[in-house]
Amino acid sequence: MRAPDVNLNRRRLLIRGGIGALGASALPLAPWLAAAQQEELCVNGKAERTAKQTAGPFHLSGAPLRDDFRVDGMHGEDLTVRGQVLDVACRPVAGAVLDVWQADPTGVYDTKSFQLRGKVESDAEGRYQFLTLKPGAYGSGFVRTPHLHVRVQAAGLRELTTQLYFPEEELNAQDALFRPDLLMSIYKGYAGLSGTFNFVLEPA
Ligand SMILES: [Fe+2]
Repeated sequence: MRAPDVNLNRRRLLIRGGIGALGASALPLAPWLAAAQQEELCVNGKAERTAKQTAGPFHLSGAPLRDDFRVDGMHGEDLTVRGQVLDVACRPVAGAVLDVWQADPTGVYDTKSFQLRGKVESDAEGRYQFLTLKPGAYGSGFVRTPHLHVRVQAAGLRELTTQLYFPEEELNAQDALFRPDLLMSIYKGYAGLSGTFNFVLEPA
């Protein structure tokens, strides 16, 4: 029952922080989402590290560096994910590499190639962005609500492996791995879904 509270807090932040954040961010679409989560993360110049989660069985090493993971001919809902990589002192982390993998919209992982997988690098302000398709749920005998797997690596900081979730998914409550602090802020716009999540890495 904690998830609805988190969502509600985020909505309040969106409303309160929206106008002022518009001019302050360089993000091209829905910049207030990143700003809202930033406001939550950084208190007095400090941030809690992002929670770790299991990598699971489907990670493949060697995913290509690219910012569009979509597959020609695969139907699904476009999902742009963006945000910032920070350290626990709320400083942007440039040059962090995010390795992303996920199920396809029907809940199936491609384990023979790199469909819906890729690596992106954060820019000088720690910002990253990638375009993919919203993953489907999966599980037999257990439930995996829709999620993205992400591994973040940056020089001098501890590697982080975690998973990102979607708000207002019915299956969140049935997934034993789901954590409300790993929810993306999601905005549905003309170009599909836009998700925001800011990662916080602790020192190595
Ligand atoms: Fe998974």
